[in-house]
Amino acid sequence: MSELNNIALKILNNGKGILAADESTATMTKRLESVKVQSTAENRLLFRETLFSASGMTEYIGGVILYDETIKQITSKKNKIPELISAMGSVPGIKVDTGAKVLAGSPNEKITEGLDGLRERLKDYYKLGAKFTKWRGVYNISKEHPSKLSIQSNAHALARYSALVQECNMVPIVEPEVLMDGEHSAKECYEKTSEIIKKCFEELILHKVDLRGVILKPNMILAGNKCKNKISNEEVAKLTLKCLKDSVPSEVPGIAFLSGGQSEIEATENLNLINKYNDTNFIMSYSYGRALQQSALKFWSQDTNNIEGTQKIFNQRAKMNTLAAQGKWSKELEN
Ligand code: 13P
Repeated sequence: MSELNNIALKILNNGKGILAADESTATMTKRLESVKVQSTAENRLLFRETLFSASGMTEYIGGVILYDETIKQITSKKNKIPELISAMGSVPGIKVDTGAKVLAGSPNEKITEGLDGLRERLKDYYKLGAKFTKWRGVYNISKEHPSKLSIQSNAHALARYSALVQECNMVPIVEPEVLMDGEHSAKECYEKTSEIIKKCFEELILHKVDLRGVILKPNMILAGNKCKNKISNEEVAKLTLKCLKDSVPSEVPGIAFLSGGQSEIEATENLNLINKYNDTNFIMSYSYGRALQQSALKFWSQDTNNIEGTQKIFNQRAKMNTLAAQGKWSKELEN
């Protein structure tokens, strides 16, 4: 099992973080269409290959989460995508859930699917070069939500997934995402996130998952995007730390936050403060999708052949977040 711990540490050591490039084709189509690029398999590959071959991959990105389509694609230089990522010094990973569907019994909530046939799919991904995996449970906050049913059933699915992944010698990323959408206060986010994470670990332990070979991917503690009372970045950092200290078992080697709709700078600044105040043994790093790719995607959409310019922007974001994962970022470094 220490093999799994080593993989987790290789991904997150020295301020390295994860590039979450595992957008489903539907999500990637939304992202591409938002910058007026047609969503073809070629364009999806071109953008991703541009990022995966950037020099910043070697210094800052410990792991890349891929989507099923991407892990099977061949680069313009005729390499397999996982080989490109490994050659850059990073670890290839794969999203293995099949998406969040309406939860029977609670129509305004979601349950993540993908357990059927998962053991066989994992073997295939392992053969393709994946060393870690991701599964995202999603929760919304309102007066009645998240319900006990959604907290229980998503934790159960995350635990069954994790046990199967470790059986196949890969590191599971456990991602319970409490969405930022809504009017809820930061206090409510804190309380619900704590309850959700505690339940996840209760189930992981029940399913005999080795916590030393797990990476937790949580949300930060934020007020809802429609809440009138926002809290300061310092408060975000302190509440996030308090929540994780209280709900994550100490065996877990690393925590890699999702960005969840925060702006690029906000996600970097909050991560930096979390690390400034970090008085735990957990590595606190990033597993960002939008907060690593947004500016690069916008620039690339103007001229999809400008590989170097796109990579420069991506390298800068990766560098800033790696500094933040060590508490060494400052606003002045952004220019
Ligand atoms: P964001 O950082 O854009 O929230 O994406 C992370 C992710 O992997 C969500 O599942």
